Amino acid sequence: MTTILSIESSCDETAAAIVVDGRIVKSNIIYSQIELHKLYGGVVPEIASRKHVEKINQVIQSAIDEAGVTWDDIDAVAVTYGPGLVGALLVGVSAAKALAYAKKKPLVGVHHIEGHIAANYIEHEDLKPPFMCMVASGGHSHLVYVKDYNQFEIVGRTRDDAAGEAFDKVARAIGLGYPGGPKVDKLAKEGNREAIDFPRAFMSDAPYDFSFSGLKSAVLNYLNGCEMKKIEINKADVAASFQQAVIDVITDNSVRAAKDYGCTKLALAGGVASNTSLRENMKKACEKNGIEFYYPSPVYCTDNAAMIGVAGYHEYISGTRHGLDLNAVPNLKIGER
Ligand code: KG4
Ligand code: ZN
Repeated sequence: MTTILSIESSCDETAAAIVVDGRIVKSNIIYSQIELHKLYGGVVPEIASRKHVEKINQVIQSAIDEAGVTWDDIDAVAVTYGPGLVGALLVGVSAAKALAYAKKKPLVGVHHIEGHIAANYIEHEDLKPPFMCMVASGGHSHLVYVKDYNQFEIVGRTRDDAAGEAFDKVARAIGLGYPGGPKVDKLAKEGNREAIDFPRAFMSDAPYDFSFSGLKSAVLNYLNGCEMKKIEINKADVAASFQQAVIDVITDNSVRAAKDYGCTKLALAGGVASNTSLRENMKKACEKNGIEFYYPSPVYCTDNAAMIGVAGYHEYISGTRHGLDLNAVPNLKIGER
């Protein structure tokens, strides 16, 4: 039995978890700072770092207590060391290093995106590499070919905004507030997704890449145009039509990539993976193409430490160890050590 204490602090969630054998989540403590950042319409890095400092020890202790384990049971400490906000990452990395040193435990640095992908293993015992994974979050939109538990190939990426970023910006423009994703998701259910024909960007030179900034501008232009012409805006229709444009591109690119790479399995990950319409759309497309479709529960889609514990376990058993000189790497590339 291998027990990992994992820590995540790359953005605005202070989180710690205890994960056994890479699948069993004994505890998953998340202190979300969302309420704090709402006031500013987005994450304020300096405030995030300060709150992490305030909360991290408490969150780690709760994860240990709730799991009912002691330090004797813990085999290693895993921590997100990139990508993310440098000041935020540093808090988790420093805490992990201090504990690894004081308790004489191995230290394993984990890539945040590897964590998002690994979230899929928690509830799907049958899911094993190779498979294609679409990671869509506030900071990333990547199509990743998961060759093995810690072997990845980036197949497609966004040229500009991440999918979640587009959700947040559009939500802000129609007055829904931060974070926008869940609010657009909810409002879109009351709207007509065919009401406005927003653009879907497909790149001919890189067929699995994404671009969401044109779509975001099209929504802003539409809103400005309505305002100038004094036409009343139907927010639900805007939300539904925008969301459908994102869903169409994500579904099309990821199903095509899965087929082209000969994958019979496709997984979703990241905050945007909790979008209900995206899940439904992908499920249908996968069924049509004979592909098995996987996604994590919402709590494992948005930032959490359980997913870091799962990825950390696979790194740990494959021999990855980091020294006490481990640093936060804000632009860490996937697959880098
Ligand atoms: O994975 P995550 O918690 O943080 C990053 O690593 O970036 O993702 C947060 C992003 C935010 O942009 C949020 O608006 C989006 O995920 N999100 C959603 C939904 N829930 C969260 N987007 C669309 N629909 C949702 N239901
Ligand atoms: Zn994330």
